Amino acid sequence: MSPTPWRTALITGASSGIGAALARELAGRGVEVVLAARREPSLAQLVDELREAGGAARALPLDVARADETVARIRAVDDELGGLDLVVANAGIGWPQPASQLTWEASRELFATNFTGAVATLTAVLPRMVERARGHLVGVSSVAVYSPTPQGSAYRGSKAGLTAFLENLRAELGASGVRVTAVHPGFVRTPMAEAFAIQPPFVLEADDAARRVVRRLARAPARIDFPWPVVFMMKLLGALPAALRDPMIRRVELGASGGRR
Ligand SMILES: NC(=O)c1ccc[n+]([C@@H]2O[C@H](COP(=O)([O-])OP(=O)(O)OC[C@H]3O[C@@H](n4cnc5c(N)ncnc54)[C@H](OP(=O)(O)O)[C@@H]3O)[C@@H](O)[C@H]2O)c1
Repeated sequence: MSPTPWRTALITGASSGIGAALARELAGRGVEVVLAARREPSLAQLVDELREAGGAARALPLDVARADETVARIRAVDDELGGLDLVVANAGIGWPQPASQLTWEASRELFATNFTGAVATLTAVLPRMVERARGHLVGVSSVAVYSPTPQGSAYRGSKAGLTAFLENLRAELGASGVRVTAVHPGFVRTPMAEAFAIQPPFVLEADDAARRVVRRLARAPARIDFPWPVVFMMKLLGALPAALRDPMIRRVELGASGGRR
């Protein structure tokens, strides 16, 4: 594996799915990884696995929906490691939520995790990175930002907010030495994806998705979108007149196979 520009990285949502795969990919390339999520046993198991494979890893149990605590804990780990080079706000939740049954309670949790939690993660050491003139901030958003999606108002809203936040950071931080990237994956086989009853097209395995991200991340592009057929489909759908698109969105029944996650 090729060397990376990062010595240390913090990844939220590292206890499963894309976050765990990103941690494996980065640790395999010699990056010291901090694994953050709520489920401590899963984090501990992954830390053991990465260490046994010769990597450097530590667990940081946290709930990103507790934003103030998240900021404090990330700052503390930044102190301990002598500076985080890469911060990946990946923690997220999502499940089919028909608009007709959308509640404030469910929306609040989703935004607190996917948007506020991500902003807390990304800003925790942002001024320190600017001071060091070094660092890379990454948010795992979704291709859902490119078009309305079935039963996805709150999820898409949370991810569109995250993408806009990252884009603005990048525009403003241009010359600071701090890089910013928004990641927009299509469908990836993970525990979250199991909440959806449909078989979507072009599904990737989490390790494949992580490889694609890490390979491109080193060049610090504004966006990492994949796989291209899904990106193309979503952009096309998003560009259609609402009168054509919206009836299609209403026809798709995602159903909740495993309920919410
Ligand atoms: N799978 C897809 O098709 C797909 C497509 C586009 C984008 N994404 C995005 O990719 C990211 C990772 O999702 P995934 O598919 O890998 O799902 P996943 O396997 O369910 O992983 C979600 C991760 O987020 C963590 N998490 C959830 N709530 C948290 C909280 N309050 N505090 C801290 N950690 C929390 C979970 O850990 P704990 O439960 O241990 O806290 C878990 O590690 C999400 O942001 C998702 O929106 C996924």
